[in-house]
Amino acid sequence: LIVDKGNHRHFMAKEIYEQPETISHTLSHYVDMGAEKVAIRETLPFDWSDLSRLTISACGTAYFAGAVAKYWFERYARLPVDIDVASEFRYREPPLEKGGLSLFISQSGETADTLAALRYCAGQGQHVASLVNTLESTIARESSVVFPILCGPEIGVASTKALTAQLTALASLAVAAGRARGVLEAGKEQEFVRALTGLPTAVSQALATEAQIIDIAKRLSKAKDVLYLGRGPMFPIAMEGALKLKEISYIHAEGYAAGELKHGPIALVDEDMPVIVVAPSDELVDKTLSNMQEVAARGGKIILITDAEGAQTVGHGVADIIVIPHVSSFVAPILATIPVQLLAYHTAVFMGTDVDQPRNLAKSVTVE
Ligand code: G6P
Repeated sequence: LIVDKGNHRHFMAKEIYEQPETISHTLSHYVDMGAEKVAIRETLPFDWSDLSRLTISACGTAYFAGAVAKYWFERYARLPVDIDVASEFRYREPPLEKGGLSLFISQSGETADTLAALRYCAGQGQHVASLVNTLESTIARESSVVFPILCGPEIGVASTKALTAQLTALASLAVAAGRARGVLEAGKEQEFVRALTGLPTAVSQALATEAQIIDIAKRLSKAKDVLYLGRGPMFPIAMEGALKLKEISYIHAEGYAAGELKHGPIALVDEDMPVIVVAPSDELVDKTLSNMQEVAARGGKIILITDAEGAQTVGHGVADIIVIPHVSSFVAPILATIPVQLLAYHTAVFMGTDVDQPRNLAKSVTVE
């Protein structure tokens, strides 16, 4: 299989731009567009309604997909979720219920720590499900059910389209679980499915923020440290934004829960540290925006990622506002991923780093 960059300068750019298409592809597997329902094709060796807990393990960007999914499964399926990075999980020896469900998220299906976590869970008598891109991988082979993400080969070491595909599949699974557990009504399912099927268009529109993002990235490339803030499902997106920036631009970045700002990172805020706030309008946006004002009051330079409604709420105080389309808060974390990817990508381009092959990193970490 030969994969080329097309008209793009890097595989990462190509993969970022493919996302309207790859998300559609993932959706066509998980959603019955005609019936406006989620349709899981895999035969499940468990029943969603029998589960008392879902245990998720993954590494790197895949871990952040799981961290967003925790909000979805808990809110829309009332299913408690434990999530941990696989390298910690595997040695924690957590007690697990026989017949319970554990889920492993891995683009490559070969990450050593994730595989070890899977084997531990299988040994505890858990049903082992995996969400992978590479179907002929060890993790897929050793799972009792495999959910594909179908985003095509990802070449850039820093994961982009695999994350939005993982999120799309996980959102669908959360809806399926919510229906099976009797917590999500048919009307709500239809509303969520419409939100999901609207994503490819919304992602295309979010990609159109690129020109503005290039301008911001030029300034970001001069920073020594960058702080990312988010609340609720935007917290993992903030962490992902920080990870992406470190990975490819080598600028130190941290992702923090917006409400934790006052418990530490606010001490770092000065005119030299950009603070990226990921806050599309939802029921919690006012709280995040008031955290943002605390940063502004201390001279911090804010880059706000929000929608038109959120932009209107903040008024004129913020110099850089990246406006993405307004979508249902259910799918908002998927859409908010786009500007954080573009910011990291263009910052790295300004830094002149090897974007597709960043130093010291590997696409798939098959050793512990
Ligand atoms: C490496 C890659 C990341 C990836 C992580 C997990 O660190 O550089 O992009 O998110 O491994 O990989 P996996 O294949 O298990 O998703």
